[in-house]
Amino acid sequence: MATNRETVLITGASSGIGEALAWQFASEGNALVLVARGADQLASLKNAIVKRHGVKVVTHPADLSLPGAAEKLHKSLQGTATKIDILVNNAGVLEQGAFAEISGDNHQRMVQLNVAGLTDMLYQFLPPMLQRGHGRILNVASIAGFMPIPGLATYAASKAYVLSLSEALAEEVRNSGVSVTVLCPGITATNMLAKAKAGNSVFDRMPGILVSDVEYVANEAYKGCMNGAAVVVPGSLNLAATLTARTLPKWLVRRFNGLVGRATIEH
Ligand SMILES: NC(=O)c1ccc[n+]([C@@H]2O[C@H](COP(=O)([O-])OP(=O)(O)OC[C@H]3O[C@@H](n4cnc5c(N)ncnc54)[C@H](OP(=O)(O)O)[C@@H]3O)[C@@H](O)[C@H]2O)c1
Repeated sequence: MATNRETVLITGASSGIGEALAWQFASEGNALVLVARGADQLASLKNAIVKRHGVKVVTHPADLSLPGAAEKLHKSLQGTATKIDILVNNAGVLEQGAFAEISGDNHQRMVQLNVAGLTDMLYQFLPPMLQRGHGRILNVASIAGFMPIPGLATYAASKAYVLSLSEALAEEVRNSGVSVTVLCPGITATNMLAKAKAGNSVFDRMPGILVSDVEYVANEAYKGCMNGAAVVVPGSLNLAATLTARTLPKWLVRRFNGLVGRATIEH
């Protein structure tokens, strides 16, 4: 029986971690607003979720890398008097390879979506939550946000931004009734990994123990978000990597990642 307890907006909901989070929140009786570019994927996900869980699901196809997209989405939801209780900023893109060999457009797309789009979503949806004294935000960063990574330089920098912004906001809004959680997954079996594997055989040779299951990651994220945890790193190996990166001297982390990162760049 559906309870529609809260309304959860999930970006990048059409596949991977976002889709798994959509199923997780729906299974708890929440209503969903699903956002991604692919209208057809969103529509079939909506049908499947409504059929299984009977919750209210609305889809909003949008390219969040475009300036003004978050404002347009916010206005459109205001028009239907839809209040967002939980915002999941999950949409993100990754390009791997030597910095100079990634196209300028692809660098910009990472910055526009992972950094600018996410910030604009927060700017649109956080103030109404603060006014109501109620809400939750789940931003998706990565363990890559804890350290510079040659071969993933722009992507890792974009996730460092998400991690830093989220930790700052978690403290800024403490005691406001709104919580901010940042999810930092390690390598997870999604389309993003499949694309990285197709572009670089090093990813194909990665030991399975390093790859997390998407439902596990979504479940850990859900629990952390609902508990108001500031930072969630699913998996003990990933947690060890982030603790090590925060404990060791920066120069040592940089040089170690330099050795590993340069070895993974295929020309
Ligand atoms: N997989 C990993 O190993 C891993 C590890 C750490 C962190 N993460 C992070 O987890 C998040 C989800 O990634 P994933 O692995 O689940 O990747 P994914 O399966 O490729 O999903 C990405 C989602 O983002 C949407 N999206 C892409 N560009 C968009 C745009 N311009 N506007 C709106 N939506 C857009 C995609 O749908 P459309 O293409 O239809 O728009 C899709 O729904 C990302 O932020 C990623 O950086 C992933």
